Amino acid sequence: MNRGIWENHYRKEKSELIIPDENVVRSFVRFIQENPDAWILDAGCGKGRHLDFFLGYTKCVYGMDFTRNSVKGKPDRNTFLGDISQIPVADKSFDYVLAWGVLHYLPPEKARESVRELRRILKNPGRLFLTLRSDEDTHIAETVSKGDLAGAEVWTYSRDDALALFTDFRQVRYGYIERIPPYLPGEETERKIAHHILDLEL
Ligand SMILES: C[S@@+](CC[C@H](N)C(=O)[O-])C[C@H]1O[C@@H](n2cnc3c(N)ncnc32)[C@H](O)[C@@H]1O
Repeated sequence: MNRGIWENHYRKEKSELIIPDENVVRSFVRFIQENPDAWILDAGCGKGRHLDFFLGYTKCVYGMDFTRNSVKGKPDRNTFLGDISQIPVADKSFDYVLAWGVLHYLPPEKARESVRELRRILKNPGRLFLTLRSDEDTHIAETVSKGDLAGAEVWTYSRDDALALFTDFRQVRYGYIERIPPYLPGEETERKIAHHILDLEL
């Protein structure tokens, strides 16, 4: 339902994110060193900042997004169109799946379906690494009201609600990314959780 808004977003030059998230870098590098023959999927890859990073390590990498404009210009052999709630690949296809900043743009029931889908396409053992937007975040409301993604729908999660989505995984590690507003040394500042990080193993 947000697809048109994302398509427009990817027409803008500023949508071109290049630097991979440091948490993804750390998780992926360790994983690929231990599993050099792994098959990797970046689900909801956007402009492919993580896809490009992964390709520096292995050619067995695919990026999927539900927008054409995001993956335009990327080699077809590494990208395909698809909805994260209905991923067009066979069961147990991938060893490592990333869904960075994607699931909170789906209504909760679709997000739950998507978690089942991500689980379906993971090999066993397999690793799923993702974020969900926290209900403490101070930024997203502005982005979807008058910012870059004006009109988009987003759902935020408490830590417990986020964890409740992943009870079927053998191992669940929880982390978070804080949003810390600029402050002067000595001044009080309020730190909020912006994103929940889930590092999951089957
Ligand atoms: C915040 S961006 C993150 C992009 C990328 N993962 C990154 O970290 O740079 C969210 C992405 O999710 C994609 N997306 C949103 N809903 C989706 C869905 N139902 N199926 C597939 N992709 C979706 C959007 O098109 C967008 O590219």
